[in-house]
Amino acid sequence: MSNNVLAIYNSLMGENGNSTALVKQFVQDWQHKHPNSEVTSRDLVQNALPHLSLAEMGAWMTPAEQRNEEQQQLAALSDNLIKELLAHDVIVIGMPLYNFGISSQFKAWLDRIARAGVTFKYTETGPVGLVSGKKVYVLAARGGLYQGTDKDTQTKYLQDFFNFIGISEIEFVYAEALAMGDDSKQQALAAAKQQIQQKIA
Ligand SMILES: Cc1cc2nc3c(=O)[nH]c(=O)nc-3n(C[C@H](O)[C@H](O)[C@H](O)COP(=O)(O)O)c2cc1C
Repeated sequence: MSNNVLAIYNSLMGENGNSTALVKQFVQDWQHKHPNSEVTSRDLVQNALPHLSLAEMGAWMTPAEQRNEEQQQLAALSDNLIKELLAHDVIVIGMPLYNFGISSQFKAWLDRIARAGVTFKYTETGPVGLVSGKKVYVLAARGGLYQGTDKDTQTKYLQDFFNFIGISEIEFVYAEALAMGDDSKQQALAAAKQQIQQKIA
């Protein structure tokens, strides 16, 4: 396993996002621990993907050599994102909670990396994930308190999604109560950063 990291940013607030700060902390700690590791950054807000469409799925289902120019461009979106995912063994994801769920930008990324016959396949005994040897870290930033309750729509969803494509090693760090006063925000961010450090150490 290499130590190369795909760092996924996903905050509407950009550089001021709390999840952005957590991912940056992760990358800094990771590079300190693994000085030769390479880090690729992908900002899903700055480089937002369109919603998945029938035309794009049609391009996936058309054999590569038969795709017209538009289909080639459409298929390249997902092809390149999957290639990027497969090229890294560690995926760290900033995960804001927006309106009780993941961001629509992040959903658009998930919609590109779940590809039948490429990242998963269906067999007689059910679906089989085709992505192996990866570890995912999810760094969650939330205004309120959700962890461990059934209002946390992110944890199980992301576990299910990544398990489905073959990634079973997935760890979460939560910074919660970020909108519940400055003290609680500072405490939550400091605790989350400490947890990140511990996970990397
Ligand atoms: C559009 C929007 C919707 C939000 N919805 C929720 C929510 O449903 N529950 C919650 O606890 N916090 C909510 N928040 C607060 C964010 O979870 C919080 O600001 C967190 O820091 C987001 O991550 P970010 O700073 O990396 O963008 C919302 C914030 C925004 C901007």
